[in-house]
Amino acid sequence: MGIELLVNLTYVAAAVLFIFGLKMLGSPATARKGNLVSAIGMFLAVVVTLLDQSIIDYKWIGLGIVLGGVVGAVVARSVAMTSMPEMVALFNGTGGIASLLVGWAALYGFDPNSFQMVTIVLSILIGGVTFTGSLIAYGKLSERMPGRPLVFGGQRIFNILLILGIVVSATLFVVNPDTIAYLYIVVALSLLLGVMLVIPIGGADMPVVISLLNSYSGLAACAAGLAINNIILIVAGALVGASGIILTQIMCKAMNRSLSNVLFSGFSAVASGGAAAKIEGEAKPMSADDAYYVLEAASSVVIVPGYGMAVAQAQHAVKELQEILEKNGAEVVYAIHPVAGRMPGHMNVLLAEADVSYDLLLEMDAVNPRMETFDVAIVIGANDVVNPAAREMEGSPIYGMPVINVDMARNVFVMKRSMASGFAGIDNPLFFKDNTRMLFGDAKEMLGNIIKAFG
Ligand code: TAP
Repeated sequence: MGIELLVNLTYVAAAVLFIFGLKMLGSPATARKGNLVSAIGMFLAVVVTLLDQSIIDYKWIGLGIVLGGVVGAVVARSVAMTSMPEMVALFNGTGGIASLLVGWAALYGFDPNSFQMVTIVLSILIGGVTFTGSLIAYGKLSERMPGRPLVFGGQRIFNILLILGIVVSATLFVVNPDTIAYLYIVVALSLLLGVMLVIPIGGADMPVVISLLNSYSGLAACAAGLAINNIILIVAGALVGASGIILTQIMCKAMNRSLSNVLFSGFSAVASGGAAAKIEGEAKPMSADDAYYVLEAASSVVIVPGYGMAVAQAQHAVKELQEILEKNGAEVVYAIHPVAGRMPGHMNVLLAEADVSYDLLLEMDAVNPRMETFDVAIVIGANDVVNPAAREMEGSPIYGMPVINVDMARNVFVMKRSMASGFAGIDNPLFFKDNTRMLFGDAKEMLGNIIKAFG
């Protein structure tokens, strides 16, 4: 069997592993295995790529693998769970710059035909936009730069001119590949476009932007794969591109917003318009001991975690309380909102870390119809995703967003440190409902106190 055939067959096997891996990532029960299956696919792809006859020097490749591997391992081990979206932003950015460089290098390896010239320019263009766009997203999320939308007069016209400039210089370069100056202009303008596209978006919308940039990084890789005629890069890039855009759609739907609304009108601007609708009422605080008396008598409990559980790192304490309640004869389930926390699957990952059984995690649509049957709904550091204003208050910035209807349970306990609003920056009428009691304090400490009361 020729080496080329071996390489291509292995690429097909790797592509199959990617697809099965992705499928497995769709459920918390198989997600870890899915990650491993995809990683094996990538390992195979890397190994056979190294067999490629046209590699003339392994020194730089080896150096890249060692450096990249060490940096990746150190960063992945040390990053806090709450900073994961920032890390993903940086990873997308490195994917973008890698595609830009691969596309650029392809100009020198062989004599590209016109189709390959187009794909080379596309990989450079999309890679450049992804790189700087991701850096800005990282800056906003990590608060290294202001999270508010940065806008200036004539910004849209400027962006349109920028895009026109890219199209013209890219076309000129494809037609006259010898005039490298056109390519330099494409690179410079693409890098600038990445910045310009992300600065007008509020920090609050960065998770959606990151998912979109993830999709772009896939498209850039796909274009680079076409440029250098590498099947696995095309397949992997297309998979990342498609899954990124699907995830973006899921997030937008869960927030009841369109993608164009996210991209072209900062959430903060929308939120400040609706925040004027102040909610009057008196919240009723309760102690951990009082919570214990109610929970002790409860026969069904639904736990709704949110971003505050991640901040407090309360997942292990949550699991402990779950076990105590179950021993006490209660049925306990978890209700997971698709955008609870700050990244897709945030709650699932934390609860998996605490070994919470996957079959106890119910999706919003499964739990809402039976909400009235729960004796107690315990809201742990969640706010927007349980805000009944989304159902009841027309004109609220989150009106229409699907939420977990905890207010329909017999009793609602809300664990948070203060009356502060959540991510969307709006008040929550849940706190003032007759059946709601507030457990003010850090979620981990408060859970610890309730567990202590159970003795
Ligand atoms: P949020 O609405 O952000 O509310 C989190 C609450 O946790 C805050 O009100 C905060 O109140 C409380 N908290 C913070 N630290 C705490 C601690 N140590 N102990 C106890 N409570 C603590 O969270 P959510 O309900 O999970 O909603 C997620 C939001 O993020 C939604 O608006 C969603 O649209 C947005 N978003 C999510 C995603 C993804 S993919 N997940 C993507 C884009 C946007 P205190 O300060 O009073 O404690």
